[in-house]
Amino acid sequence: MSFGLGRGRELDAAVGTVGIGEAELPALPDAIAEDPRAGQVDPRAWFPDASRPFEIEIGSGKGTFLVQQAMLQPEVNFLGIEWAREFYLYAADRVRRRRDRGLLGNVRLLNADATSFLRWRAPEGIARVVHLYFSDPWPKTRHHKKRVVQDRFLGEVWRVLAPGGELRVVTDHDELWDWDCAHFDRWTGGAGWALLSEYGLGGESPREGGPFARETFQRPPSAERGELVGTNFERKFRRAGKQFHSVVLRRCR
Ligand SMILES: C[S@@+](CC[C@H](N)C(=O)[O-])C[C@H]1O[C@@H](n2cnc3c(N)ncnc32)[C@H](O)[C@@H]1O
Repeated sequence: MSFGLGRGRELDAAVGTVGIGEAELPALPDAIAEDPRAGQVDPRAWFPDASRPFEIEIGSGKGTFLVQQAMLQPEVNFLGIEWAREFYLYAADRVRRRRDRGLLGNVRLLNADATSFLRWRAPEGIARVVHLYFSDPWPKTRHHKKRVVQDRFLGEVWRVLAPGGELRVVTDHDELWDWDCAHFDRWTGGAGWALLSEYGLGGESPREGGPFARETFQRPPSAERGELVGTNFERKFRRAGKQFHSVVLRRCR
């Protein structure tokens, strides 16, 4: 529980029903030293109906996109992963309060590093969409390694997406966008196949194109008039007159 972002109101992540606790995601086992898959847990099982389509939002912040989109798509399960505890608590509490009204049974929140979750926890081919909106730019060169988009990350996203699944990205930050595009160029071309096999992820034979195809970003139904996606940061940056970059990377196979 926390009182921080709640401005004096107690925030409750409702661990076990909204927030993911240790019972659902136990500590990594020692066996992971020999077997990188030993810590895998299927997050679809955290929802009342595990057979529904499954989407992940990385860096869900205050949960604005998650809440809006999940309200419109009750037939889809959404997992928000947010490593900043206060934001995780704020978003989970938002969902918990709607649960009390019988809504948003299709949303869970995890307080963790999403890149580690994808690498060590998530099984293959489970997700239809991975959403990444207004990721932290980490502008200093020595911090670039903290950016979410890295070659290894894109390899893990490819593995976790079902064939035909999408990585959806929006940012306001020009320099981060240049960085993202340099990575996306590799993963939409032959270099991506080589990286997949270097990471032991694909075992795919190289073929025309790359592991991902680049497509135009389509606004989700929850975006409000004039919005691209409708997150908290988009609203803040839009008021400041910023322009946005967006893309969909579709897993080819
Ligand atoms: C700039 S905010 C954007 C929040 C939200 N997506 C929006 O557009 O309003 C980026 C968020 O991503 C979270 N974040 C950054 N790296 C992360 C990671 N590796 N795993 C989980 N959350 C992360 C940050 O804590 C922060 O809440």
